[in-house]
Amino acid sequence: DALEQRVRAVVDAHRGDRGALLPILHGLQAEFGYVSHDMVPIVARELNLSRADVHGVVTFYHDFRPEPAGRTVVKICRAEACQSVGAEKLAEHAQQVFGVKLGQTTPDGSVTIEQVFCLGNCALGPAAQINGRMYGKLDEQRLDRLIRSAEG
Ligand code: FES
Repeated sequence: DALEQRVRAVVDAHRGDRGALLPILHGLQAEFGYVSHDMVPIVARELNLSRADVHGVVTFYHDFRPEPAGRTVVKICRAEACQSVGAEKLAEHAQQVFGVKLGQTTPDGSVTIEQVFCLGNCALGPAAQINGRMYGKLDEQRLDRLIRSAEG
């Protein structure tokens, strides 16, 4: 089917790479925006690996998301410097407002909330990235506003 064909094209592009599995998974993430469960058996078969092996790698690396991201992706820093100035409260607030846990997307596909560990913006914590743009010194109200304006 169509999924299988697209997945196999990515596999073929990386087949010769050393340790082909990771480059293939990154390739899938780039092609589809996620690495879903139904891609795992296809990759396993193509590389002669077990499904469990492939699944293990997909879930070990947090780079791979299992489903399409929301239209707005919010990455909240939970590393030490940001934690010390209120990142936990911010993360909790965001989860409450959108009714999802960190790493999840709202059912309507509008917002994904994720955690990251240091965005290199430590002096201006708590920091977050919204659709790739960096923001610092956030509080709950400002985060809400930024997410709403990112949603358009
Ligand atoms: Fe949050 Fe570095 S600890 S940006």
